[in-house]
Amino acid sequence: MKTRWYKDAVFYQIYPRSFCDSNGDGIGDIKGIISKLDYLRDLGINAVWLSPVYKSPNCDNGYDISDYRDINPEFGTMEDFKEMLKGMHDRGIRLVMDLVVNHSSDEHFWFQESKKSKDNPYRDYYIWREGKGKDGKKPPNNWTSRFTGKAWTFDEKTKEWYLHLFTSKQPDLNWDNPKVREEVANICNFWFEMGVDGFRCDVITYISKEEGLPDGKGLPILRGDEHFVLGPNIHKYFNEINEKAWSRYDTMIVGEAIGCKLKDAPSIIAEDRNELDSAITFELVQVDFKSDFLPVKFNLRKFKQVQSAWQNLPSNCWPTLYYENHDQPRSITRYGNGYGIHRKELGKMLAVSYFMLRGTPYIFEGQEIGMTNIYLKPDEYVDVMAKQIFTIVKKVFPPLLPFARWAMSKRARDHARTPMQWEGKQGCGFTTGTPWMKVNPNCDDINVVSALKNPNSILNFYKKLIDFRKGNDIIKNGTYKEYYAGNKNVFCFERKTGDKAYLVICNFKEKNIPFNVDDTGMKGAKLVISNYPNQEDVLGDAILLKPYEAVVFEKGNSDSKRII
Ligand code: NOJ
Repeated sequence: MKTRWYKDAVFYQIYPRSFCDSNGDGIGDIKGIISKLDYLRDLGINAVWLSPVYKSPNCDNGYDISDYRDINPEFGTMEDFKEMLKGMHDRGIRLVMDLVVNHSSDEHFWFQESKKSKDNPYRDYYIWREGKGKDGKKPPNNWTSRFTGKAWTFDEKTKEWYLHLFTSKQPDLNWDNPKVREEVANICNFWFEMGVDGFRCDVITYISKEEGLPDGKGLPILRGDEHFVLGPNIHKYFNEINEKAWSRYDTMIVGEAIGCKLKDAPSIIAEDRNELDSAITFELVQVDFKSDFLPVKFNLRKFKQVQSAWQNLPSNCWPTLYYENHDQPRSITRYGNGYGIHRKELGKMLAVSYFMLRGTPYIFEGQEIGMTNIYLKPDEYVDVMAKQIFTIVKKVFPPLLPFARWAMSKRARDHARTPMQWEGKQGCGFTTGTPWMKVNPNCDDINVVSALKNPNSILNFYKKLIDFRKGNDIIKNGTYKEYYAGNKNVFCFERKTGDKAYLVICNFKEKNIPFNVDDTGMKGAKLVISNYPNQEDVLGDAILLKPYEAVVFEKGNSDSKRII
């Protein structure tokens, strides 16, 4: 059944709340997405990952689902959804939805029932335990929520605690209960029947918890991981849902593999295991953030180590390539000086640095125009993560507040969620009303309308690069070899099949870097991609790289279209 179409896909992630508002209520919606389908087609992408549009009380912007088979009215109706799906398919774009089933919303019918009594038929859909201590008023273990604080909430009515690895409004589902697994398979099939092409499975590496839920060892904000990341039954559960749903249609299933290390990835993504098709892993985006919250200096050598290690996975493992999503700050501000005079070159260089790798690339909305992080005052943050961090720091140790503000100015998820900058006017073409979150004031300069007009824009470069990847066998199947791994300025690698090869050279520094390419054996190769005009047409022994310059030289193949 599976054609593995995703190996030829370029994904575009839509965070619906921030993409396009059609009715002026300040919140992006499905009709807004429909109005931008031609834009997506023209960009050249052929798959969309849509962040949740299901019914939700929005404590975590849709990652808390109260009905898995319905659409949140603020986004539109099921009819709108079907129209959008058809509109995508008509344009050759597949749709992958978000599947958030490590937890549901506490407002889901299952949880409402579950908390009614200990013998309710839905009680066992969630993870309930008696507390510790004489009166049971201490949580069952020391695990912490990924958003700070305890991972347990006490329920006065039934005098037990329920587990939530995120907020207390996101109770964890009990995957050890076969009925829960049956429900998940049925939900998947419901959407597949409608024509949906796959799922991005939210924090799916957390679903199997270790028997007895033992105390954890880690840091307060991440304590307990060792007892639920790729837990004891994870393979059994993946196989089961795969058999009952995922493999029955021509799908793509990509798991958000939080906590999954390179060495464990093949056990969940190797093709013969019938589990996931690919994994969104975190090692790369954690190069400049320790423990997910603490900004540390960007280190290109570590970054290259991670990229190379994932490229060198066995050939039956398919990588996911991304720099941004709705949880990560903007790449142009984190991997370089996205506010500087070389902003455009940087945006293009970053694009080259991951589009030439093996795997499925994802573009997060706005990345294709080089949207940047935003400056926010403390009370302008709207995301639950930043808010909880400020609250806890205020409560526990207020002198740390300036530090928390600094950390959030770099790390908060809000940076990714500012409204999509369509035009340089009030509401940035995203809404005619009051936007649900602050628009980045740089929308006058950075917006789709002006990028479309400028042949040298990041957007137009992305279009050419996407086109360059299409049907390109070297990029899809070629071998990978890194050169000069110890160089702290330049990422240099070769992709090769037979006697045809590309040499990719990306300068991650905002200054000129002389770069000797002796070791590569690519002397004489011809230039096919460059983010500056006037680069040498043919590779010599060395090359002088300009600030954030990216070049690709090709050997043994003369028909690549040149992108400059
Ligand atoms: C990962 C999602 O990407 C994030 O936005 C969400 O807050 C958590 N999972 C919890 O669902």
